[in-house]
Amino acid sequence: MGDYTNMSGYYDLIMTSGYYDYDKIVDSLVQHLPFSNVLEIGCGTGLILETLAKRQPSVALTGVDLTQAMLSIAQQRLQTFPQITLQNQNVTELHLDQSYDLAFSYGGVWYFVIDGDKEPFLVSHIAQEEPNRQGLSKVAQHVKTGGQLLLGVQGPHHDYASPIRMA
Ligand SMILES: C[S@@+](CC[C@H](N)C(=O)[O-])C[C@H]1O[C@@H](n2cnc3c(N)ncnc32)[C@H](O)[C@@H]1O
Repeated sequence: MGDYTNMSGYYDLIMTSGYYDYDKIVDSLVQHLPFSNVLEIGCGTGLILETLAKRQPSVALTGVDLTQAMLSIAQQRLQTFPQITLQNQNVTELHLDQSYDLAFSYGGVWYFVIDGDKEPFLVSHIAQEEPNRQGLSKVAQHVKTGGQLLLGVQGPHHDYASPIRMA
């Protein structure tokens, strides 16, 4: 669970056809300035990192993801941004040589879903409870004292059809 290899070839096409609004996601992140370094957990093909790097070029960014096929696309996309480092890691075993002002996950690993009047609930790409605890604990070890972990908020997933942009 959580491996996006089979989806990597068409991930960008779906996401940039309106599934996520990357400018809006970054609008939310920059509300938490100032920060000098940021960790994205489950960075996928690097679409958020690219948008954030363009808006805040002086911030050091690290993206981790367990799916190498997604990271390969991110590496290609982000090659002109020396401030971005990518790592192929599972968050449950996260091991980086620095700690961060801000860590976030948007659709990668954890996110909150708001479905009408129901209580918001947490969704995870990790199926079992213990690895989820381990992952959150690992993230906490990589956030500076006074730093923050931000988790995205999404609507519920219902079946629907939507046109996609032609390449
Ligand atoms: C829906 S994509 C989100 C990508 C990116 N955040 C975006 O907004 O486009 C979810 C990503 O989380 C990654 N992922 C899932 N479980 C993970 C884990 N345990 N550790 C690291 N990455 C994980 C997947 O490989 C996938 O690339």
